[in-house]
Amino acid sequence: MMLSFKELALNRQSTRSFSDREVELEKIKRICEVAAMSPSSCNSQPWKMHIVRPTYAKIADLRKACQAVGLNPFLDNVTNFIVIEQTFGNMKSKAGGFFSNNDLNSIDLGILAAHICLAAEEEGLGTCLIGSFRNKNVNKALNFSSLRRIRLVVAIGYATDGYEIRKKTRKNTEDIIDVIE
Ligand SMILES: Cc1cc2nc3c(=O)[nH]c(=O)nc-3n(C[C@H](O)[C@H](O)[C@H](O)COP(=O)(O)O)c2cc1C
Repeated sequence: MMLSFKELALNRQSTRSFSDREVELEKIKRICEVAAMSPSSCNSQPWKMHIVRPTYAKIADLRKACQAVGLNPFLDNVTNFIVIEQTFGNMKSKAGGFFSNNDLNSIDLGILAAHICLAAEEEGLGTCLIGSFRNKNVNKALNFSSLRRIRLVVAIGYATDGYEIRKKTRKNTEDIIDVIE
């Protein structure tokens, strides 16, 4: 049964307990294809999604790059990742960002990441966005030049059986929603 957007948003949570169930490449590709429909400033699409599979020889290095100072220990059980790289968008979005003093390409990548997580939820896969990593070490793990700009790593896979949906901890709506009339 297809979940409504509200259900997807409520069910999606950061998964930090992954099972060893194999993840179908086709599913991850589908998720990336749907996420590629995300809006972006001037349609600049300043992204590339690298799907890292369990067979990749240096996957342990990628994991390690996201586990500095003991962070993210749950990644030990993660065998699939989507690494989000920022690429050159277009001049129009660069100019727009310059004039509005706004990092529009960072916003674009955040929206892409949100689409990935929600598309994964629809496919029955759990995700956890990982922001705490050393760019240099991720590039090294992927055999990329140190100049490439990795902005987020998404851990993706099946949650362990019985992994419960937590109650959301969020600010009060009256503190974050302001109606101006
Ligand atoms: C940009 C970004 C970076 C994040 N980095 C990490 C991370 O390194 N490790 C982690 O466990 N969770 C990370 N998270 C997940 C957040 O902690 C999580 O989204 C937040 O606490 C809300 O919980 P929920 O996702 O379960 O609703 C990150 C989330 C975002 C948006």
